[in-house]
Amino acid sequence: MIKVIRTTDYAEMSRRGADLLAAQVLQKPNCVLGLATGSTPEGMYSLLVEKYQRGELDFSQVSSVNLDEYYGLSSDNDQSYRYFMNYHLFDHINIDKAKTHVPNGLAADADAECAAYDALVDELGGVDLQVLGIGNNGHIGFNEPDEVFTAATHVVELEESTIQANSRFFEDISQVPTKALTTGMRTIMQAKRVLLLAGASKKDIVDKALNGPITPQVPASLLQLHPNLTVIIAEN
Ligand code: F6R
Repeated sequence: MIKVIRTTDYAEMSRRGADLLAAQVLQKPNCVLGLATGSTPEGMYSLLVEKYQRGELDFSQVSSVNLDEYYGLSSDNDQSYRYFMNYHLFDHINIDKAKTHVPNGLAADADAECAAYDALVDELGGVDLQVLGIGNNGHIGFNEPDEVFTAATHVVELEESTIQANSRFFEDISQVPTKALTTGMRTIMQAKRVLLLAGASKKDIVDKALNGPITPQVPASLLQLHPNLTVIIAEN
């Protein structure tokens, strides 16, 4: 089932997303959240922090697995996704940091790190709620357009368009890593529920992903086959 919620703007998209995520934590206090970084979920994370501060949520039993991490960045680099998660969410709620997982961007053996990450997700029993943003090219996580869908967590060469898009967070485009570790399509598709958030600039690619052909050239199109997908779109 695909449920599309059209919201007026970014603030409402964030509020609806935060409400769904909060409901998941209330329903299953020891749930496994699959989390994304990027500018899209920032508003949702800050609303979750507010809910926590008001005493409405308890994250003490929650585990999390993030989708991806730049290859070559350490966790204390302010552009790393581990840093992002601590800064926007984990440092402000009562989640046990030992239960929060982000691929290790400095792993000497990246392939072994990817295999270990998939084993960890299995050990946790899979993801209850997977939060996703979407790239302008249809990527989810860092599953870039390709000839095939890749099931397992893997090392990916970032597309030029992704490097361009993400350079807005860096001082200089030359500092954007060219590789990343990303959860593959299996973890995403096996999540019990998927929540895709999309700001107004992503309307066309979301339309292509949900209504166009299912193809690895638009990785998010595979979500059409997910049994429990909620898409929250900001119209403006
Ligand atoms: C980030 C991730 C990416 C982003 C996507 C959109 O963890 O997995 O797929 O969700 O690149 O990024 P923003 O939200 O910055 O437009």
